[in-house]
Amino acid sequence: MKMKMIHKLSIAVAFATVTAGAALLSIPAAHAEGAEAHFEHMNWSFNGPFGTFDRSQLRRGYKVYKEVCATCHSMEFMHFRNLAEEGGPEFSEAQVKALAAEYQVQDGPDQAGDMFERPGKPQDAFPSPFPNPEAAAASLGAAPPDISLIAKAREGGPDYIHALLTGYEEAPADVKVPAGGHYNPVFVAGNGFIAMPPPLADGQVDYDDGTPNTLDQMSQDVSAFLMWTAEPKLEARHRIGFQVMIYLLALSGLLFFATRKVWADQH
Ligand code: HEC
Repeated sequence: MKMKMIHKLSIAVAFATVTAGAALLSIPAAHAEGAEAHFEHMNWSFNGPFGTFDRSQLRRGYKVYKEVCATCHSMEFMHFRNLAEEGGPEFSEAQVKALAAEYQVQDGPDQAGDMFERPGKPQDAFPSPFPNPEAAAASLGAAPPDISLIAKAREGGPDYIHALLTGYEEAPADVKVPAGGHYNPVFVAGNGFIAMPPPLADGQVDYDDGTPNTLDQMSQDVSAFLMWTAEPKLEARHRIGFQVMIYLLALSGLLFFATRKVWADQH
């Protein structure tokens, strides 16, 4: 009787090994496959159980965000100091100080009770381009969503963002584009019309690492950056997933041999 229970236990542990491992290593469930097939699957460096972010790509992606997307989109969950953290773009502390100091942020009140402006510091949040979503909508026709977590909030994540940024087209002759709308069939939520004007075009952002600044490249870089902001602990998760897998495998092995040894004489 006990023998059976221990046997069952080893089977349960082996099962847990596979499930926990698969979940932690983010091996996609079979049903998720077909659902995202309508846009191109990119070969991201962070794909797969051992994937890591490409530091240079994240730095270029930050530059695209800062120079282009940040004029409309907030990223309220991001602070400048995050840019120096392990597993991200890993800018040096000095670089992060300099990046933060490019902005003027509101602070205060001072002793006279007045608010004042000062250069940004690493602990400051990324400044928002609009005081509130209503002001953004009034000026742009629709409120641009906060994009800190957008790569996790949309099916397809970085594949979707890349497809969206490169998906603007001339509207077919029989399609009437509404005022303030832009034709982009990737934006199914708006039936192919989006209030965001095409934000990127070839050559728009100067890269200092020699990477060609094509529309496609910049779209990939900013999508990778948004994947990191949405999941800054991705690399740690992959690492832990692998360790848990090894640990549980060793445990199932141990249980298997322990069972055999303990019950060897009882047959
Ligand atoms: C001129 C302002 C503007 C700029 C610049 C801009 N966006 Fe947008 N964006 C918008 C607006 C407005 C919307 C909302 C569109 C709508 O609801 O029709 C939007 C929506 C989005 C969405 C959401 C789509 C969805 O599924 O809901 C993503 C993702 C996005 N933008 C990414 C970016 C990225 C990345 C950049 C920089 C490369 C960028 N945007 C630059 C205004 C802008």
